[in-house]
Amino acid sequence: MTAIALDVRNVSKIFGGLKAVADVSFSVPAGTLTAVIGPNGAGKTTLFNLVTNIYRADEGDVAFFDESILGLSPMQVAQRGLIRTFQSARVFPGMTALDNVMSGANLHVRASAAAQMMMLPGARREERSLRARAEALLELVGLSEFRDAAATDLPMGSQKLLEVVRAMMAEPRLLLLDEPAAGLNDSETAELAELLRAIRDAGTTVMVVEHNMALVMGVADEVVVLDAGAVVTVGTPAQIQSDPRVIAAYVGGEV
Ligand SMILES: Nc1ncnc2c1ncn2[C@@H]1O[C@H](COP(=O)(O)OP(=O)(O)O)[C@@H](O)[C@H]1O
Ligand SMILES: [Mg+2]
Repeated sequence: MTAIALDVRNVSKIFGGLKAVADVSFSVPAGTLTAVIGPNGAGKTTLFNLVTNIYRADEGDVAFFDESILGLSPMQVAQRGLIRTFQSARVFPGMTALDNVMSGANLHVRASAAAQMMMLPGARREERSLRARAEALLELVGLSEFRDAAATDLPMGSQKLLEVVRAMMAEPRLLLLDEPAAGLNDSETAELAELLRAIRDAGTTVMVVEHNMALVMGVADEVVVLDAGAVVTVGTPAQIQSDPRVIAAYVGGEV
């Protein structure tokens, strides 16, 4: 039996009378890449905020690898390996590409701040191994030669790749990405798709909110379609592409 990375059970969230997420249930099998699609305002970002406990659900429960996240802080959720990026998040200005990637490891830095300040041997070893991992991730996305460049000087496509590998520094068991292809051109989107497949194939479960259908169709094992806060359907890319309910949800939408 495959492990379930994320089990969303009857989750609802109401904002001042508006049901932003309405009785949503689905599960994400470990090792798969699940896309969440739906028109603007469908509740996709709110769903991410609920599964990371940034918002508390009004109803329902979320289990992360069989453990309920109810009562955990967002930090505790992240420490268990549920790591997200934010819609319209950017690389950190005033930092190099390498430092941007390394900063993603902050959750797991074990040496105390005092030990790091004094550069004790344990802290130095840790710094070296983090640096090596960050350099390997830069290599993976073909950005090694820009390691010392200011991250904000890189093209948008490269900045998005940096954001994703920065999240990988936290060693996620489940990586949540909110619209990573926003603002990317076709070739940048293709590079991002390749990275997402590589992350999934290396064993990290991935859940991605995305409008770019070429990306979704190219990378997703399963697609959850949301509309007006509710699940319209869940299926493979081929199944949902020809589903009249999905097409109806997008009439007047942006896709
Ligand atoms: N913090 C909030 N307060 C009030 N309403 C919100 C809040 N966050 C989201 N909403 C509303 O919830 C609905 C779903 O929003 P969102 O989850 O951002 O949609 P999506 O990411 O699918 O575009 C929208 O109608 C939005 O205006
Ligand atoms: Mg959103």
